[in-house]
Amino acid sequence: MKIAIVGATGAVGQELLRVLEQRHFPLSELRLYASARSAGKTLSFRNTEYLVEALPEGPLPVDIVLASAGGSLSKQYAPIWAKKSIVIDNSSAFRYEPWVPLIVPEINAQAIRGHQNLIANPNCTTAILLMALYPLHRAFKAKRVIVSTYQSSSGAGASGMQELLEGTRDFLAGKPLQSRTFAHPLPFNVIPHIDAFQDNGYTKEEMKVLWESQKIMGDDTVKLSCTAVRVPTLRVHSEAVTAEFERPITPEAAREVLRQAPGVDLVDDPANLQYPLPLRASGKYNVEVGRIRKNLVFENGLDFFVAGDQLLKGAALNAVQIAETLVEMGEIHPAVAS
Ligand code: A2P
Repeated sequence: MKIAIVGATGAVGQELLRVLEQRHFPLSELRLYASARSAGKTLSFRNTEYLVEALPEGPLPVDIVLASAGGSLSKQYAPIWAKKSIVIDNSSAFRYEPWVPLIVPEINAQAIRGHQNLIANPNCTTAILLMALYPLHRAFKAKRVIVSTYQSSSGAGASGMQELLEGTRDFLAGKPLQSRTFAHPLPFNVIPHIDAFQDNGYTKEEMKVLWESQKIMGDDTVKLSCTAVRVPTLRVHSEAVTAEFERPITPEAAREVLRQAPGVDLVDDPANLQYPLPLRASGKYNVEVGRIRKNLVFENGLDFFVAGDQLLKGAALNAVQIAETLVEMGEIHPAVAS
């Protein structure tokens, strides 16, 4: 496969390189693209230095384009790339188009079939939530879900991480805090605002979790409300989830389901201080789930806590898994781009 990474110098782009390398993706050629600012830089892959190129205007000479350079760029270029290549797009630009499959391979790999050369990678918060929620939904049928998130600075890209680190240093040096990437200073703070506010008072990030969960689970009867909050961690989005199910559910039955769920690590031993933690989940493929308990408000209700590396399962890992699924399903032929 000939692969291009668009946005190779970004937070997700760097992870894409690492995941392709770690998973020994069958790759014959690699092209790295970023903005003109980065042209001429090199990035290392399998002990070789690859030149970063400025993104050209037309189609790219590859079989698969892994795009992670923002929504407006994808909106403009993905249809052009899709004429010659299969595009796996990390932005939200096409996720809600009915003809675009929105894929978490552990959940709805089959929805890839019939794609039109454009496949969307879900929002990171949604992907991490569904790794735990979907297996429970399949077993007990979720009716209503309430999610509160604790989202890391890298959700806003490399500049978000940099702002947190620099701001923390500034604060400790007694300098005033500034914010560029975030609406307010993030160090020593939490910000209940991610993405643009909508007419209904929710943010777009919060609405994405509803829209995308319904599409990926293939069930628009599941009701969901989300409050998305930025916290001063570097990586990993954590989520406190309350879910009400149609069928009776117990914490032990939920644990049994989650023990079997692919891509999930059950970390649920409060007596030994074991529960999901961003620091441990950083750099890890699997999503941690724990703090599982019977909810005190809803009948058939369950509370749990999830922590997953959103640069991986919420972005780069999921995108590479989609590419692997395309290969496994025979949905891609290396001749596409030639
Ligand atoms: P660059 O590093 O040259 O700015 P992040 O999400 O971490 O902010 O990363 C965004 C990625 O998208 C970076 O690789 C960035 O490249 C790339 N990018 C931003 N604007 C463009 C553009 N106009 N053309 C190509 N790549 C872009």
